[in-house]
Amino acid sequence: MASSTSLLFPVFTFFSFLFLASSSKDNTPATITIPLTSTFTNKPSTEPLLFLQHLAISSLSRAHQLKYGKASPLTQISLFPHSYGGHSIPLSFGTPPQKLSFLVDTGSEVVWAPCTTHYTCTNCSFSPKKAPIFNPKLSSSYKILECRNPKCSVGCPRCNGKSKNCSHACPQYSLQYGTGSASGFFLLENLNFARKTIHKFLVGCTTSAAHQPTSDAYAGFGRTMFSLPMQMGVKKFAYCLNSHDYDDTRNSSQLILDYSDGQTKGLSYAPFLKNPHDYPGYYYLGVKDIRIGNKLLRIPSKYLAPGSDGRGGLMIDSGFAYGYMTRPVFKIVTNELKKQMSRYRRSLELEILSGLTPCYNFTGHKSIKIPDLIYQFRGGANMVVPGKNYFEFPEISFACFPFVTDAGTNTLEFTPGPSIILGNNQHVDYYVEFDLKNERLGFRQQTC
Ligand SMILES: *[C@@H]1O[C@H](CO)[C@@H](O)[C@H](O)[C@H]1NC(C)=O
Ligand SMILES: *[C@@H]1O[C@H](CO)[C@@H](O)[C@H](O)[C@H]1NC(C)=O
Ligand SMILES: *[C@@H]1O[C@H](CO)[C@@H](O)[C@H](O)[C@H]1NC(C)=O
Ligand SMILES: *[C@@H]1O[C@H](CO)[C@@H](O)[C@H](O)[C@H]1NC(C)=O
Repeated sequence: MASSTSLLFPVFTFFSFLFLASSSKDNTPATITIPLTSTFTNKPSTEPLLFLQHLAISSLSRAHQLKYGKASPLTQISLFPHSYGGHSIPLSFGTPPQKLSFLVDTGSEVVWAPCTTHYTCTNCSFSPKKAPIFNPKLSSSYKILECRNPKCSVGCPRCNGKSKNCSHACPQYSLQYGTGSASGFFLLENLNFARKTIHKFLVGCTTSAAHQPTSDAYAGFGRTMFSLPMQMGVKKFAYCLNSHDYDDTRNSSQLILDYSDGQTKGLSYAPFLKNPHDYPGYYYLGVKDIRIGNKLLRIPSKYLAPGSDGRGGLMIDSGFAYGYMTRPVFKIVTNELKKQMSRYRRSLELEILSGLTPCYNFTGHKSIKIPDLIYQFRGGANMVVPGKNYFEFPEISFACFPFVTDAGTNTLEFTPGPSIILGNNQHVDYYVEFDLKNERLGFRQQTC
């Protein structure tokens, strides 16, 4: 753990392995409840600016990855390959069960773990030697995915029908993330919960990785068939995220995997939209309007719903700390914000240091009022993001607007991919339900 990044961010602990038992706390066999742990286990108080800067860089890199779907120049220049500020769950694979911590990631589509004693991780922000790994050799239930299995979606060039070659292993996978990559081979393995075992679960055995921000394994929760909820066949999953400002008087939050259908009490719903062809795994929401306080913003509709060419739209992503807005939208939003915040002092110095804009220095102000950011979804539901959620560190005399945008000079360019990404710090203290069966997002404000 003696990496330079851990020296830069001494208060940021990315080993959050509270290997809590998977448990099903309520008596409804239709649900599985798993403790959800923030990858922040300490309040980043000594170097909050570096912390902001780090999150800005990794969020920008993540945004680029989500939008362009492949390694970007930003990936390589990422200076602080730390966690995105995610949340993790313990999962047990194999017989006997081996328990590892998995990052919950609604923006990716595969479940994988660092795997085999040969596991290597290049330029990772933790010691790969100390990374918890899954060792298939210690499990009696794993099978290597074969070419003949329809789950071998990459296909094998020499396997046609029932030829002998079809018993070969499915070719290696290679995955790109905002700040990293992972490659390995697929296994079919038992995924164990206290009162349920999922057999032949497709899990990636990652043998080599690079630039991983955390030693956690990944649990893709995306909208395609190999994500965790899709393979399990649950009808919905839900979580309630604790504040990033870790507060240990709070109960740890939980992830709920739910096999039952129907309406959850007290939730407002917003429909998921049909995905554009190039982005099958994301959760797009239909937005009608965005407001800052009472002010309705004039955002051209092409940015608010994905077009068939894959441009535009708003996605929700649990694996993303900050928000992202494409530059034209970012300008409209920040122009209005600056108007409403004009009584406070802008700090260009903070903006340069954090990589975010606008930033304010509140020194000398007794009470600070930051307007709500309100997403009005199709179907009528509003998500109100209080200033304290979308602004970082309002309690410590300065704050920055935690949204990243495209760096390009052509500010009117309509870039591919989502135009707006709702990151997880915007849905802190919301109960959020991804209703897969009815293709909608349910939410309500509550203390998590
Ligand atoms: C790892 O980092 C070193 C030094 O920063 C660099 O030279 C090398 O190319 C990096 N390796 C990979 C695989 O990115
Ligand atoms: C099986 O693979 C070998 C090469 O690995 C190839 O020569 C052969 O034609 C393949 N057989 C079939 C039936 O595709
Ligand atoms: C923690 O959970 C218990 C039982 O569910 C509840 O009574 C209590 O209010 C919770 N505490 C906080 C701080 O939310
Ligand atoms: C905010 O302004 C005060 C007074 O001008 C100054 O002392 C302080 O260093 C500033 N804070 C930051 C984080 O720039």
